[in-house]
Amino acid sequence: MIDGVGGERWIIEGGRPLRGEVEVGGGKNPAVAVIAASLLCDEPVTIENLPYIEDVRVMIDLLGDLGAKVSRCGRTVRVDPRTVCRSEPRDDLARALRASSYLLGAMLGRWSQAQIPYPGGCDIGDRALDQHIKGMRALGAAVTDQYGVIRASAKGGRLAGAEIYLDMVTVGGTINLLLASCRAKGQTLLFNAAKEPHVVEVANFLNSMGARIKGAGTDVIRVTGVDRLHGTVYAIIPDQIETGTMMIAAAATDGDVTVRGCIPTHMEALSAKLLEMGVRVDDHDDVIRVRSTGIRRALTLKTQVYPGFPTDLQQPMTAMLCTARGVSLITETIFESRFKHIRELARMGARAQVLDRVAVIEGVPELAGAALTATDLRAGAALVVAGLMARGSTEILNPHYIDRGYEHFAEKLNALGARIIKEGRREDHAKAGA
Ligand code: EPZ
Repeated sequence: MIDGVGGERWIIEGGRPLRGEVEVGGGKNPAVAVIAASLLCDEPVTIENLPYIEDVRVMIDLLGDLGAKVSRCGRTVRVDPRTVCRSEPRDDLARALRASSYLLGAMLGRWSQAQIPYPGGCDIGDRALDQHIKGMRALGAAVTDQYGVIRASAKGGRLAGAEIYLDMVTVGGTINLLLASCRAKGQTLLFNAAKEPHVVEVANFLNSMGARIKGAGTDVIRVTGVDRLHGTVYAIIPDQIETGTMMIAAAATDGDVTVRGCIPTHMEALSAKLLEMGVRVDDHDDVIRVRSTGIRRALTLKTQVYPGFPTDLQQPMTAMLCTARGVSLITETIFESRFKHIRELARMGARAQVLDRVAVIEGVPELAGAALTATDLRAGAALVVAGLMARGSTEILNPHYIDRGYEHFAEKLNALGARIIKEGRREDHAKAGA
């Protein structure tokens, strides 16, 4: 779609504190990985608590197009991978999101061969797949990567366990290699593995089908290959990034919001930063309450791999820091171009400069509503947070990015007192929200 031309837009009337309670949905990043992982099973699997978001719809459509029997009832999907009859995912769907890369590990792990087009996903950096490929070669796969297609096949007909040292911490690489190795012959050791909650989630899902994975959540994961995987019923964990975005929106609008159905231990890095700013954060069980105290100190922030500050919350946090007292320094260590939202925030009166991977933000008394364009999923979320904070009305073009990863985002915010109107909704969006 051409940016903003004839498409959907959101109109936000700002300056209204968010107040009340909000329930978090199932996690986007765990969901798309678990859906792909279901291909590894020899029996039907049932996945529960799936969020109503575009990326989940696309992953389900990808499996259906491969021939898997897929049926969805609300937040639950049943996948029977026994009827898969194609080895190449549909190109347009695979290029719509990053998670299609997991089909490489799942299909290679299940059928000892795979072919995928280069995945899509937010344009926030190079997003190479060299570590995925390096690991698959270590497992005994012949892998070619040319003309935008990756082809892999297990030499000798079955992958063999190996010791794999990842050159950098990669969430996708770790997950893809868990998928490829769980049915390999022998033992695999993954060193320098990612520890994100959704890496643990994929290991838990695979183990619920009879895989033998130990150490997920640490930087060394041990996988003992098995010959088959049995069916399971599995519920996806709450979305860590939706939780964090709601927490930031509450603080940014000087509100008082209770986020329910979340996992507070996944939010510790953000909670610590909000406390440092002067925001009140209280949590117990599966509940986090965020209250503004009227104090908003500037921060020094550096995105890190888990359990550090999540890169996916850097963009919404940047929006809030535009009206902090003082100068904030934000360093984005994970992706090389994840500051596109800043030029949009400048249209609202933000005083911000980007120098390579560092954003310098000098707090201003308030932001003014403006016409903005979302460039990626979390940039879209950042612009919504800024629109909620700003004086006057803000228009956001390309909000379809937001629907990729946030379930009923505008509706949930309106229930907390926001005033967001959607104009020119696209037909397929209505289906996505079904
Ligand atoms: C996952 O992306 C998430 N996406 C991202 O969320 C998240 O920002 C990211 O992990 C980091 O937490 C999904 O789970 C679908 P990486 P992924 O592999 O797997 C480089 C969102 O907003 N790298 O950990 O692509 C890479 O270029 C999305 O929900 C290589 O160089 O992230 C990046 O700079 C955005 N070679 C860094 O590592 C490789 O082989 C981290 O990437 C792999 C990665």
